[in-house]
Amino acid sequence: MAFCVLTVVIFSLCLGGLPQVRADGLSYVAAVYEHKVILNPHPRVPQERKAALAHMKQNLDVFEEQTALAAKQGAQIIVFPEDGIHGFNFSRSSIAAYLETVPDPGLVTWSPCADPYRFNNTEVLQRLSCMAQKNHIFLVANLPDCQVCNRSADTHCPPDGQYQFNTDVVFSDNGTIVARYHKQNLYFEAAFDTPPNVEYVTFSTPFAGRFGVFTCFDILFREPVVTLIEDMGIRQLVYPTAWMNQLPLLDAVQFQRSFSYSAGVTLLAANVRAAALGMTGSGIYTPWDALHHHDMVGEFGKLLVKRIPVLDPSLIGDGVGKDGILIPYSGHPKDNRPETDKDKAWADAALFPRIGGGYCLKEECSVEPTFFNSVMMYDNFTLLPLQGEAGNLTVCDGSLCCHMLFQRTAPQKEELYALGAFNGLHVVHGTYYLEICTLVRCTGLEKESCGGETEHAQTLVDFHLVGTFSTKHVYAGILGSGMTLDLPDHSGWENSSRFYMSKTGMTNGLVTAMLYGRNYEKDST
Ligand SMILES: *[C@@H]1O[C@H](CO)[C@@H](O)[C@H](O)[C@H]1NC(C)=O
Ligand SMILES: *[C@@H]1O[C@H](CO)[C@@H](O)[C@H](O)[C@H]1NC(C)=O
Ligand SMILES: *[C@@H]1O[C@H](CO)[C@@H](O)[C@H](O)[C@H]1NC(C)=O
Ligand SMILES: *[C@@H]1O[C@H](CO)[C@@H](O)[C@H](O)[C@H]1NC(C)=O
Ligand SMILES: *[C@@H]1O[C@H](CO)[C@@H](O)[C@H](O)[C@H]1NC(C)=O
Ligand SMILES: *[C@@H]1O[C@H](CO)[C@@H](O)[C@H](O)[C@H]1NC(C)=O
Ligand SMILES: *[C@@H]1O[C@H](CO)[C@@H](O)[C@H](O)[C@H]1NC(C)=O
Repeated sequence: MAFCVLTVVIFSLCLGGLPQVRADGLSYVAAVYEHKVILNPHPRVPQERKAALAHMKQNLDVFEEQTALAAKQGAQIIVFPEDGIHGFNFSRSSIAAYLETVPDPGLVTWSPCADPYRFNNTEVLQRLSCMAQKNHIFLVANLPDCQVCNRSADTHCPPDGQYQFNTDVVFSDNGTIVARYHKQNLYFEAAFDTPPNVEYVTFSTPFAGRFGVFTCFDILFREPVVTLIEDMGIRQLVYPTAWMNQLPLLDAVQFQRSFSYSAGVTLLAANVRAAALGMTGSGIYTPWDALHHHDMVGEFGKLLVKRIPVLDPSLIGDGVGKDGILIPYSGHPKDNRPETDKDKAWADAALFPRIGGGYCLKEECSVEPTFFNSVMMYDNFTLLPLQGEAGNLTVCDGSLCCHMLFQRTAPQKEELYALGAFNGLHVVHGTYYLEICTLVRCTGLEKESCGGETEHAQTLVDFHLVGTFSTKHVYAGILGSGMTLDLPDHSGWENSSRFYMSKTGMTNGLVTAMLYGRNYEKDST
C-alpha cells in the first residue's frame, strides 16, 4: 500500500497537473447524476401532502432508474443534486407538505426501507433507502427536513417551534441513514433556516474510508468546508448543488475543478439541470483529473460514472502530505521539486524577446498600456490590456499585486485580453472577501467588455501568473474555450505571500485563468 501512495506522489512530481494516477492503488467507482428537476409550477402555493408526494415521485422515479444504471456500471456511491426531489422557490409555509423529519443518525440507527413504520411521514426517506439497499450503493440526496425545537430552551428556535433545513441525507448500501447535514450557507432560500451551529458531517464507507458532506453555496465559505479539510483531514467530499452559472469566474464546473485541485480533495459534485436558470455543471473531480458535464443546450439529465483513487489518509497512509504534494491549499512548493527546463525558461527573460513589439490590437501598441476599471461579477476590477504578442504586466488593487508574463502562441486579432486585480469585499448576492488575479478574454474589443460572459476564445496564451495574497486560500483555475477544463502545469507558493501558477501549450483558446483568493477572516469587516 505504501507503494501505491508513492506512485501517486511521483506522478504528481513529474507531471505536475497531468491526470494519470496508477490504477494499482486503492480505488472505487463513484457516480454523480445531473438531474433535470421536474418543478412544482406554483412553489408558493401550499399543497396537501398527497400532492407533494405525487410531485416528488416524478423526480424519485428518475433517481431510481439512474441509481440502477449507476450500480450496473459498478458504482459504489452516487450523489444526487440539491433541490433535486422537491425543486425550489418555496416559502417557509408553502414547503410544509414536502417536509420529513430525518432523525440524527448519531442517535438513531434506522433503515427506512427495512423499518418503514418506525416514523410517520417518511415516504421519501423510505424510497431513497430502498434504492440504496436494492442496488447495494451508498446514496446521497437532498431534501427539506424539519426538526422540532423548544423555544424556551433554544433562543434560535423559530416562532413556529420547528427548524426547516436544507438537508443532505446519506444512506449506506444497506439502506441505513449514516449522515445528515443541514446546509450552513443558504443562498436566499426563504423556506429554510440556518442551523444554529455549524455541522461538520462525515460518514465512512468500507471501500474508500471517510467522506465529508456540504452543499452548493457552502463551497465559497470557510465553514464547514475548510474546517473539514484542514482540521479534520477529510480528503473526499460529496457535494449536492443547485448552482447558477456565472462566467468568467464562477461557472459550476470551473469552480468545482479549481476547488478540488487547489484543496487537494476529491469532489463528487451533482448539479441540477435547469437551462432557464443557467444551471448545469457536474463532475467527478480528483486533484489530478476529472470527468465533467456542462450542457446549456439539451434538457436532459446526465449520469457520470468513474473509477477514482481512494484519498482517505487513514487508508492510503499519511505519507501523502509529507512533501507538500497534497497538503490542502499549498500547491507544489517550488523549492521541493526538480526544476524542469520549462521552469527555467519561465525565469528567463530571453523567452520574451518581443515584449512591446509584435502586432497591435487597434492603434494602441505604440503607447504604454493604461489601467482601466471594469465591473466583473459585481466587483470593480482594475485591469490592464494585453498588448503585443508577449509581455510582462503588473496590476495592483491595494496590497494585492498581480504579475504576469505571457506570450500568445496563436494570436487572434479580434480577441482582447486583460489582466485584472480585485481586492475587496464582495457584497452582491452574498458577502465574502475576495483577492483575485485573473486573465480574462473580453467579450469584445472595448475595455468595457472585459469581465462579460463568454464561453469561447481562439487565442492560445502561455502564461506565468503571480499574486501577492494575504490569504493562504487561493483557488487556481484555467477555463478553455467551450467549457473545457485545464489544470496549471505548476502552482504553489514562491514564498509566503506570492502564489503562482503557470501554463503552456494549451490546445483550446483561453477564456479565463484565475487565482481566486478567499480571505475568510475578512468576511465580517
Ligand atoms: C425562482 O426564483 C428566481 C429568483 O427570484 C427566478 O428567477 C426563477 O425564475 C424562479 N424559478 C421558478 C422555477 O419559479
Ligand atoms: C403515526 O400516525 C398515526 C396516525 O396519526 C399514529 O396513530 C401513530 O402513533 C403514529 N406513529 C408514530 C410512530 O408516530
Ligand atoms: C422546553 O425547555 C424547557 C426549559 O429547558 C423545559 O422546562 C421544557 O420541559 C421543555 N419542553 C419540552 C416540550 O421539551
Ligand atoms: C448497514 O451499513 C452500516 C454502514 O455501512 C453498517 O454500520 C451496519 O452494520 C449495516 N447494517 C447491517 C444490518 O448490515
Ligand atoms: C517583469 O517585470 C518585472 C518588474 O517590472 C521585472 O522584475 C522582471 O524581471 C520582468 N521579467 C521579465 C521576464 O521580463
Ligand atoms: C471603480 O473604481 C474606480 C477607481 O476607484 C472608480 O473611478 C470607478 O468609478 C469605479 N467604478 C464603479 C462602477 O464603481
Ligand atoms: C517574496 O518574494 C518577493 C519577490 O521575490 C519579495 O519582494 C517579497 O519581499 C517576498 N516576501 C516575503 C514575505 O518573503
